[in-house]
Amino acid sequence: MAKNFKRPDGRKNNEHRPIKAKVGIIPNADGSAMFSTGDTIAIAAVYGPRQMHPQHKQDPEKGVLRCTYTMNSFSVSDRIRPGPSRRSMEIGKITQWALEPAVMLEKFPSTVVDVHINIIQADAGTRCAGINAASMALAHAGIPMKGLISSISVGKLDKNVVVDLSKEEEDFEEGEGATDIPISMTSDKELTHIQLDGKIDKKQLKEAIKLAEEACEEIKKIQTKALKESLGNEESVDEDKDKDKNKEKSE
Ligand code: CDP
Repeated sequence: MAKNFKRPDGRKNNEHRPIKAKVGIIPNADGSAMFSTGDTIAIAAVYGPRQMHPQHKQDPEKGVLRCTYTMNSFSVSDRIRPGPSRRSMEIGKITQWALEPAVMLEKFPSTVVDVHINIIQADAGTRCAGINAASMALAHAGIPMKGLISSISVGKLDKNVVVDLSKEEEDFEEGEGATDIPISMTSDKELTHIQLDGKIDKKQLKEAIKLAEEACEEIKKIQTKALKESLGNEESVDEDKDKDKNKEKSE
């Protein structure tokens, strides 16, 4: 790590932004969830399993997971043009591939499960926030799963490996600039998705994956807690509030 390196918002290199999670936010959906990290907010709604139409797309051996990713036009300061784009279609596919290994598709043949992700506010890491929300929404819908999928973006700012890059950090231009590596994994730390935007050497990539594993472990706990809370009261999980409560208890 370079000496005197400071992240723009003062976070430690292994420190993600404050996370909030809530399950059961869209009553009409079979399952739904919200996941936010810093100023990035994603919601997900799950519908299904229901019969696949058109019929020729049905698979008699297993169900189909169909994911859409949409950025609200007001999610960034430059208005996003409504409708599908190359980027949103690509992220929809990536989300599907990231989630599929955890979903027991063979349990609902000939059907489709629709996962709709909407980015309410974007400040980088939206695909990861969307995957985290979708994973909770699938579990909330009662879709058979082997476990949750957790996702985080890690990367490099100049020579420093960091976790959960903000938009300001993604645009970092000093020294070697920024590298962005969104990663998703199962609860057993098996990677289901990794992308790389920028350059990184083998040693630092290993370091980055280690940071992602640590962050995903924490995210998994937050996701699980939000799911448990949806069974009882509907309070959201707010990391900051939890920290305050724990502090009060220890005092
Ligand atoms: O959001 P994520 O990091 O998964 O994907 P990205 O394509 O690397 O986009 C990074 C960030 O750029 C987004 O989170 C938004 O803050 C911003 N963005 C934007 O302002 N306008 C777009 N059309 C796409 C992205």
